[in-house]
Amino acid sequence: MAPAETRRLFFALWPSATLQDELVRRTRKLVRGGGGRPVAPEKLHLTLAFLGSLDEAAQTCVEAAADGTRGETFRLVFDNLGHFPRPRVIWAGASLIPPALSALVQELTRALLPCGYRPESRPFKAHVTLMRKAGRGPEATALDPIVWDVQDFALVESVTLPEGAQYRVLRRWPLHAADGPRTE
Ligand code: 2AM
Repeated sequence: MAPAETRRLFFALWPSATLQDELVRRTRKLVRGGGGRPVAPEKLHLTLAFLGSLDEAAQTCVEAAADGTRGETFRLVFDNLGHFPRPRVIWAGASLIPPALSALVQELTRALLPCGYRPESRPFKAHVTLMRKAGRGPEATALDPIVWDVQDFALVESVTLPEGAQYRVLRRWPLHAADGPRTE
């Protein structure tokens, strides 16, 4: 029997092309010294939950889990740069994590458990990877604030090609205004 077809999937916050370009433009000089190679602007994202390779039934399960998630919109301000030495990435991060972002990750994580999702044991660290294979950290860690008003989250497929990972946004789920009425 042929093995079940699987897709490598993750939930992420996916910035607009304008914000992706701004992230690259504003950090380019600061991250250069770390070596490595830059992530192309159109690939920049913030992972909420990495799911791994899922078959169709598991994908249906995680989409239903996202359908039941009631996250609120929030403002994320990128104001620092850092380095994870083991995966050798340089990232942009936010010194203040909005409670709505933590709540979204917690709610999504809980909803995904029955689908077989095994969250990482490390605490969630919101970051956008800017450079891969970077042996050293950025030249400076402070970043003039880059503001992102987050309105939705997405299910993304990662396809590994010889030239590197390609990402495809499969579906988006809107977040709801914090004080506005909720429409079902
Ligand atoms: P990174 O940006 O810090 O590398 C798609 O691979 C996304 O899922 C990437 O943003 C990656 O984070 C994240 N991710 C988290 N855990 C992963 C894992 N075990 N394997 C691959 N990617 C992972």
